[in-house]
Amino acid sequence: MDIVTLKNAKKYFSTGNQQIQAVDGVDLTIEKGRFTAIVGASGSGKTTLLNLIGGLYRPTEGTVIVDGIDLSALNEDQLTVFRRRKVGFVFQEYNLIPDLTVRENILFPLALDNSRPDMIFFERITTLLGLEKYLDSFPHMLSGGTQQCTAIARALIAKPAIVLADEPTGSFDVKTSQNVAGLLKLTAETFRQSLIMITHDLELAQLADRMIRLEDGRVVFAGK
Ligand SMILES: Nc1ncnc2c1ncn2[C@@H]1O[C@H](COP(=O)(O)OP(=O)(O)OP(=O)(O)O)[C@@H](O)[C@H]1O
Ligand SMILES: [Mg+2]
Repeated sequence: MDIVTLKNAKKYFSTGNQQIQAVDGVDLTIEKGRFTAIVGASGSGKTTLLNLIGGLYRPTEGTVIVDGIDLSALNEDQLTVFRRRKVGFVFQEYNLIPDLTVRENILFPLALDNSRPDMIFFERITTLLGLEKYLDSFPHMLSGGTQQCTAIARALIAKPAIVLADEPTGSFDVKTSQNVAGLLKLTAETFRQSLIMITHDLELAQLADRMIRLEDGRVVFAGK
């Protein structure tokens, strides 16, 4: 089964009198439960493509279907609910809430959605990510790698249809990058979680089941 289907997806931005074709006609299907890496030069449209899949942007043209849902058919409120229930985001800057502990940060998406946490799942995730001893700490007390692991746990906790990670290791040294990307892969594999990760690092992209390369808003390579 496919978790993502894009048909001639385009996203254009207008700035002044200029039009930027950030994503320019992408046809792509991504199978459920797989780990896909997106690579490409800066400005090639990676983040824009990920944001189309995550329902943060609406396509200028074309179709974006995620977990069987045609995103263009959703109004703003429905899109917000889609993002909350179906997508786990991991960003380069972690975006943790400074006043909340690690435990509270991880459980936050469930609190937002008024849903009851599956504490057995919480324990499995936090153990896999090595977070047990940090659960009562606040983000500023932790290393960048541990903060990003907290963000990964937060992305997984609601069992989303897909996890989208935009350069999750972009601010780390080589060793921490490999460690964090390895843990992201491990959790996705363990929970058969569909995962798309943008990276500049071809070595990290090799961790994925499939690599997709963008150039000027178009897919120029899509491995099987
Ligand atoms: N909100 C926006 N408004 C105007 N132009 C944008 C906007 N977002 C992206 N762009 C432009 O669209 C193109 C693709 O940008 P995007 O951020 O998707 O690239 P990227 O591959 O993620 O780059 P990077 O590796 O630097 O993160 C770039 O030319 C960028 O300047
Ligand atoms: Mg980007």
